[in-house]
Amino acid sequence: MKALFIGFGNVGRKIASILTRERDRFPHLWDLEIEPVGIVTRSRGSLVDAEGVSFNEALSMIEGNGKFDMNSRSFSQTGALEAAQNLEYDVLVELSTLSIERKGEPAVSHVRTALSRGKNVISANKGPVAFGYAELAEIASEKDCRFLHETVVMDGAPVFNLARCTLKGCTVTGIEGIFNSTTNFVLTKMEQGVSLEEAVKEAQRLGVAEADPSHDLEGWDAAAKTAALANVLMGARITPYDVIRTGITEVTQEHIAKARANGSYLKLICRAKPEGGGIKATVGVEEVPDTHHYAAVTGGGAVLRIETDLMGPVLVTQEDPTLYDTAYGVLDDLLTLQRSMS
Ligand SMILES: NC(=O)c1ccc[n+]([C@@H]2O[C@H](COP(=O)([O-])OP(=O)(O)OC[C@H]3O[C@@H](n4cnc5c(N)ncnc54)[C@H](OP(=O)(O)O)[C@@H]3O)[C@@H](O)[C@H]2O)c1
Repeated sequence: MKALFIGFGNVGRKIASILTRERDRFPHLWDLEIEPVGIVTRSRGSLVDAEGVSFNEALSMIEGNGKFDMNSRSFSQTGALEAAQNLEYDVLVELSTLSIERKGEPAVSHVRTALSRGKNVISANKGPVAFGYAELAEIASEKDCRFLHETVVMDGAPVFNLARCTLKGCTVTGIEGIFNSTTNFVLTKMEQGVSLEEAVKEAQRLGVAEADPSHDLEGWDAAAKTAALANVLMGARITPYDVIRTGITEVTQEHIAKARANGSYLKLICRAKPEGGGIKATVGVEEVPDTHHYAAVTGGGAVLRIETDLMGPVLVTQEDPTLYDTAYGVLDDLLTLQRSMS
C-alpha cells in the first residue's frame, strides 16, 4: 500500500523502525507491505517520492540532524494539506499533533481532503474522531473508503475493533473508564506520598507526560477520548467542549488521604451515557472502592467498560503501555486495510 504519513514524531518514527530495523522481531508483520510515498512534518521538511521514500533514510536524517536533509533526492517543502490533496496514495496516516484549541484542525481537514478523494485514512490523532467523526464517517461511506482510528483510545488495545468485530447486534448503552495514562500515573504516585508537582515531573522524566502536561492534567485528553468513543460507539455528535470536565489539578494529599480513610482510591473517571435524548459525557475525579476493578488500574494503565443492551458489560484493560502499543494500533489498522484491499 502506498502511504502518506502526516507527522513523523514519536509514533511515526516507531512505526518506521518496526517496519525496517526491527522487522525481523515481528514475523507476523512480514506480509504487511507499506511503501511510504510521502512523509510530511511541520518544521523538519518533507520527503516525497512517487517511487517510494526510504523509512531508514528518514530515520537516519532525523536522528542525525533533527530534520530532513535538503540535499536528499526526495526532500520537499510540501505541506500536509497540499500532500493530502495532490499526492497519489492508498492511505493517509494522520500522526500530527492534536489541537483542542483549533477544534482538531488542521488534522480534520487532512482527513476530510483524503476521504473526499476516495482515499483511505488511518488516524492516531484524536482530533478528527473527537471533533468531526459523523461528517468524516459519512464521507468515507459515500466514497466507499475506510476511516480507521484504533489508536485514538488506549493505543493498540482493541477498543473500536472489539465493538466493530465482536459486539455485532449489540447497541452500546454506555461507556466508562479510565482513559488517560498521565493522570492515572500521577494519582498513583500521589498515593505513595509524592506531591502533584513531583509526580508530574517524574511522569515527564519517564516520558509518560508531555513537556506541557496541562491537556492531560486539566482533563482535555480524557474529554477528547470520551467524545471519540461516544461519537463512534454511541452515534453521538459531541466534541470535547461538550464533555463536562474537571481534571486533577486541584487534587491534594488531603483528598488522597480522605479517600484512603474511606477504603477508596481517587481516579479520573470518564463516562458517556444517553440522557434527555442526547448523550451526556463527563470527566471527573471520583472515589473508587479498593475492591472495584478500576482500583487495580495503576500507573500508566487504562480501562474501558462497555455496556450494551444484549451483551456485557465488557471490560478492556491495559497495563503500562509503551510506544510499541501505540505503533501497534496503527499497524493493526494498516493490516485491516491491506486485507480489505486484497
Ligand atoms: N505518543 C503516544 O503514546 C500516543 C498515543 C496515542 C495517540 N497518539 C497521537 O498520535 C499523534 C502522534 O503522536 P506523537 O507522539 O508522534 O507526536 P509528536 O512526537 O509530537 O509528533 C507529531 C508530528 O506531527 C508533525 N506535525 C504537527 N503538526 C503538523 C502539521 N500541521 N503538518 C504536518 N506535520 C505536523 C510534527 O512535526 P514537527 O516535528 O515538525 O513538529 C511531528 O512530526 C498525536 O496526535 C498523538 O496525540 C500518541
